[in-house]
Amino acid sequence: MMKPIHILNGPNLNLLGLRQPEIYGHETLADVAARCAALASELGVSVAFKQSNHEGEIVEMIHLARLEAAAIVINPAAYTHTSVAILDALNTFEGPVFEVHISNVHKREGFRHHSYVSLRADGVIAGCGTEGYLLALRRAVSVLRG
Ligand code: DQA
Repeated sequence: MMKPIHILNGPNLNLLGLRQPEIYGHETLADVAARCAALASELGVSVAFKQSNHEGEIVEMIHLARLEAAAIVINPAAYTHTSVAILDALNTFEGPVFEVHISNVHKREGFRHHSYVSLRADGVIAGCGTEGYLLALRRAVSVLRG
């Protein structure tokens, strides 16, 4: 059996469903985690779904993924646009990395147009709502299965 796929979420995503629903929708992060788990079992893989509001904790999650994960799906949230530390951590990970944004960051403020994480990501999905996590998960599995 393949190692799990780690799905990592950055700051404020714990408030998904409550936070600016006109941008991010009404689903909660627990709903997204449940949909990812259901798709994972359909695809015959396992997932670990995590969230942190702290940059260093996300770095530690990536270090753990180095040891335990076959692929990373990450929505780094605001750290997308600021964090060299998260980029450096992702550069130590050997498997495929997929970056997800619920909103279309390119349609929003200029400061959201640049992503440090995109310098490492093998694929980027933005503006597909929370379905982006499922698309990224499917892509991770198809890349891992060759
Ligand atoms: C986000 C987009 C980021 O610009 C923002 O800071 C977030 C969420 C998204 O999923 O659309 O917190 O990553």
